[in-house]
Amino acid sequence: MPTFVLDGKELEFTPGQTIIEVANKAGIEIAHFCWHPSLSVAGNCRMCLVEVEKAPKGMIACATQITEGMVVHTNSPKAVHMRNAVMEFLLINHPLDCPICDEAGECKLQDYAYKYSIGKSRFDETKNHKDKRVELGPNVMFDQERCISCSRCIRFCEEIAGDPQLTFVSRGEHVTIETFPGKQLDNPYAMNVIELCPVGALTSRDFRFRARVWDMSHTDSICTGCARGCNMEIWVRNNQIKRLTPRENLDVNQYWMCDYGRLETYKYVNDESTRVNSPMMRAEDLAIDNDGLTVCDWDDAISRVLSEIKNYKPEEIAFIASPFSTLEDNFALKRFANEIVGTDNIVYIPKIEGENDKLLLRADKTPNAAGLKFLGIKPIDAKFIDKLLKKQFKLAYMINDSISRLERSEEIAKAIEVGVLHISNFFGKSRKATVIFPSTTYAEMNGTFVNFQNRVQRIRPAVAALEQERLPGDFAVSRLDKFGSHNDSWTRGTRFNARPVWKVLTQMSKVMGNDFGYETTEDVFDDIALKVPEFSGMSYETIGNKGVLVGELVEETA
Ligand code: SF4
Ligand code: FES
Repeated sequence: MPTFVLDGKELEFTPGQTIIEVANKAGIEIAHFCWHPSLSVAGNCRMCLVEVEKAPKGMIACATQITEGMVVHTNSPKAVHMRNAVMEFLLINHPLDCPICDEAGECKLQDYAYKYSIGKSRFDETKNHKDKRVELGPNVMFDQERCISCSRCIRFCEEIAGDPQLTFVSRGEHVTIETFPGKQLDNPYAMNVIELCPVGALTSRDFRFRARVWDMSHTDSICTGCARGCNMEIWVRNNQIKRLTPRENLDVNQYWMCDYGRLETYKYVNDESTRVNSPMMRAEDLAIDNDGLTVCDWDDAISRVLSEIKNYKPEEIAFIASPFSTLEDNFALKRFANEIVGTDNIVYIPKIEGENDKLLLRADKTPNAAGLKFLGIKPIDAKFIDKLLKKQFKLAYMINDSISRLERSEEIAKAIEVGVLHISNFFGKSRKATVIFPSTTYAEMNGTFVNFQNRVQRIRPAVAALEQERLPGDFAVSRLDKFGSHNDSWTRGTRFNARPVWKVLTQMSKVMGNDFGYETTEDVFDDIALKVPEFSGMSYETIGNKGVLVGELVEETA
């Protein structure tokens, strides 16, 4: 491999690579605004200027291809001087909004102003004023004054989202970003421009002014909005989710997530008006279609379920697993059905809507259908539905899903005598169940999902439920950590009285004299790794932050 020298270090490169690409991989920081590893090179911010020996003037590291023997300095007096000058230029018209800007704390311009600028301005004239609240689309607000014209947002729409909805208009200090007249920035991936924007010019209309970044903790997790399982971070303040942002995983979602996942998969976690906040059961003499649920404690709800189960023969009991639930919950349910009740009547209800798109969104709207396949749990079929309709199943045990998603659900609900439901929020017909256990949501628990590619990935608790399990190293990270203090959202705000499904089933197995013996979610996963051959040798540690493949990689289909 040919080599070159960067800040006195000899590095290898492949012909065609640029200075910034190699530096980035080698962990050497070259300040930049407009360059992004997945976008084309625009070379317009000039922040990445470096000194290249024998070159007559500074070279931009994002557009300069390396040649054999090249000697590059990023911190020589000349390079430092060039960076200072670019910062001074960019800050001339940039408003002093940091105290009220949502980007403060994670703004490249702010960070670089501390790191690379001279700390004072020679500009005595009046700053250029532009519109500060432009609705570019339903989810993105634009502050024209803050824009540094890096064009990342324009390139993203064109090159990644495949929908060129943004463009520059005007020249010089009047330049700004616009959509075509009458059009909006509304592609399904539009909100990715918010993190791409290196300053606070593009902000989320959902998140604006709801929390400062340093007041939130952030936890690595994955999105549950479809079978892709985009890697993301959950941002929490006072035990409430404030926003979801994409996390880089080049094998799954690159740097992006869709607006649907970002906006629609967290609100129900915070929603006190629909969250189930205690076990509930119906008086024994009330018919299933009466809303006669009363709050009870966990032990009473568990005894009621076990006594109901004893009233029926195993073949009269149906288990509805969930492609929205973790592997651990479904595995425990399968064990419960097979070993405690003695039946193999366990299925799940798929949810396929629309088609796969070219970037991330999948037609399968469930995060774990692939995981159920490995556990040997099959999708519901006509025969199973027929048995429900013909009253051959008398007790339905459902976790984090419901027969109300089935066609003819009214008839099925009437045919069932007893319904047991683990659910996080009341929705649809859930109040018609006989016993309800409140479930923790994906944001309050550990666990694993398998995406359509057959990649097993972890979720972690970011919000605390009442009795929260925390595995070592599982606590949320605060932005303030870098300053030596730790803001722990787990100690504030509302905690829901909810438990993961596996935990309730483990308690029931104990009462029934066949203790599963699980103390933590990790114990359940370790058992999966022992009993399901495809997971053999895996652990939470080996899955790590980016997941690992279970069996063969399933290729993308658009
Ligand atoms: Fe760059 Fe942000 Fe301006 Fe778009 S809005 S050109 S991403 S600074
Ligand atoms: Fe090189 Fe903008 S990062 S010119």
